[in-house]
Amino acid sequence: MIKYAINYIRYKLGLSPDMEFVADQLRKPSGFFGPKITRHMAGANLKLFEFTLKCMRPEPGDRILEIGFGNGDHFERIMNQAPGIKLIALDHSKYLIDQVKDKHRSLINQHGIEIITGTSERIPLPDNSVDKVFCNNVIYFWENPDEHLQEIKRVLKPGGTFCSGYRTATSMKRLPFTGTGFILYEKESWEKILRQAHFSVDSTESFLEYRKIGKENSIELESVCTIARTD
Ligand SMILES: C[S@@+](CC[C@H](N)C(=O)[O-])C[C@H]1O[C@@H](n2cnc3c(N)ncnc32)[C@H](O)[C@@H]1O
Repeated sequence: MIKYAINYIRYKLGLSPDMEFVADQLRKPSGFFGPKITRHMAGANLKLFEFTLKCMRPEPGDRILEIGFGNGDHFERIMNQAPGIKLIALDHSKYLIDQVKDKHRSLINQHGIEIITGTSERIPLPDNSVDKVFCNNVIYFWENPDEHLQEIKRVLKPGGTFCSGYRTATSMKRLPFTGTGFILYEKESWEKILRQAHFSVDSTESFLEYRKIGKENSIELESVCTIARTD
């Protein structure tokens, strides 16, 4: 609460927020800063979202679970991938759930999108109930990744796909807010975690993006999607 107030005052004075606070908001957006941070994320992460979607190859009638959806501006693109897609969107930020339900009311009603509050450590869905799971920029916040991966395996149908989108540790370390609160992976280290959780890894695809941070020169980010499968 105090941290929130201090950063609110900093914002009003035109000062930049402290980076630990930014990391907290990226992990779980809330309150006054919620809309700002999620709007920023939606723009900054759009290419990675499109890439992950392409890697996931949605098919007609797929039941797809997204973990950690930000502001939901991309929902329509998911629904347009193939006819009969059923989207279930899970996030642990009650703030985001309310915001997204309000902002995308007609799309949610039109397509029967399910927006659910909860954490990927305990996914509130039955066993073997979805064809595909994806998340972008969420794995950094999993203190014990295996707990989340076992839950993802549980809700996936046999042979189901899990696509995880993220940026490599080398890239993330170039960003000013990843010093605390982020667990970072290179492609190989994330694949290893998936295999230890008994996923089979189909492939890891990546592309380069360039981001301007303040007055600094643009930095290079390697954006990645690892495609894994349950047996
Ligand atoms: C950094 S944001 C990424 C948002 C969006 N996917 C993107 O790439 O722009 C992380 C999102 O995941 C959510 N989140 C983080 N950990 C989560 C968890 N364990 N279970 C469910 N949602 C989680 C946050 O509330 C937030 O919406």
